[in-house]
Amino acid sequence: MAHSMFDLSGKVAVVSGAAQGLGQATAIAVAEHGSDVVLVDRNLEGANVTAEIIRELGRKVLVADSNVSDPDAISELFDRVDSEFGRVDFLGNIAGDGCLSKPEDLSIEDLHRVFQNLVIGRFAMCQQAGRRMLKQGKGSIMNIGSLASSTALGRGHIAYSMAMGAVLQMTRELSTEWSYRGVRVNCVTPAQVTNPSLVSRMEQDPNLESQFLSGIPAGRMGTPKDIKGLAVLLASDESEWITGAIIPMDGGNMAMNAGGTPGHSNGPIQSF
Ligand SMILES: NC(=O)c1ccc[n+]([C@@H]2O[C@H](COP(=O)([O-])OP(=O)(O)OC[C@H]3O[C@@H](n4cnc5c(N)ncnc54)[C@H](O)[C@@H]3O)[C@@H](O)[C@H]2O)c1
Repeated sequence: MAHSMFDLSGKVAVVSGAAQGLGQATAIAVAEHGSDVVLVDRNLEGANVTAEIIRELGRKVLVADSNVSDPDAISELFDRVDSEFGRVDFLGNIAGDGCLSKPEDLSIEDLHRVFQNLVIGRFAMCQQAGRRMLKQGKGSIMNIGSLASSTALGRGHIAYSMAMGAVLQMTRELSTEWSYRGVRVNCVTPAQVTNPSLVSRMEQDPNLESQFLSGIPAGRMGTPKDIKGLAVLLASDESEWITGAIIPMDGGNMAMNAGGTPGHSNGPIQSF
């Protein structure tokens, strides 16, 4: 049963990337607290698995295999949301790929593709949801950024970092323009959260996991369910005064200086 403080009954959430990972965890979390959900993912089979879980919770679900880097597809998606639900209360703006390439080798075509996915696509989702929320006089948008929104990862992340940096500024601008009309816009910036592509990169490079962990004082990688509490908070009216915030979900990564040492892994401190 939904806790009354975070009761999302009667609300409609649109969540992209809902077939797996952070999107699936977000969709299930808001449904567990009472929201109906529109599940968006190009992986229809995976989205249908999420849909079954949510139907079993007794919520209404719409599944759409829209490509969230295509503004026309996004416009059609929201037309469907209008006819099925007639409102949008929460947007979990989560799906979108980057690419890996050394800066000196990155093609301009690939750079455009990543911007289309992560900047244009995320903006088009915000714009379609935002228009409806502005009419309602209320709504909440949770954009997903990254550690790479404000710090450099190296290892070929140039296009991804440039795009995720833009997601941060998009969040601040939209919050500034819309919050006085009741529409809140925030950005969650995760550190490394296990997903199939990250796991395969860690399998290929045996040093990568320990490299990640050396930057995470909490001592473990993230898992998709780590976003559940934040998603419910941001979707609920309990976060009414939280907008324009960049919220790390990173086991302490952003708080730690690059030269810092997590915990006491070097034993007792003897000198500075
Ligand atoms: N996992 C991490 O470590 C991490 C850290 C920071 C930021 N992020 C960002 O968070 C987002 C989600 O990450 P995740 O780990 O859950 O990823 P994931 O790969 O586990 O899941 C992404 C989902 O989005 C769907 N998708 C991707 N592009 C799409 C598109 N254009 N249209 C429709 N569906 C699409 C995929 O089919 C997949 O189901 C990504 O934008 C990622 O860059 C992830």
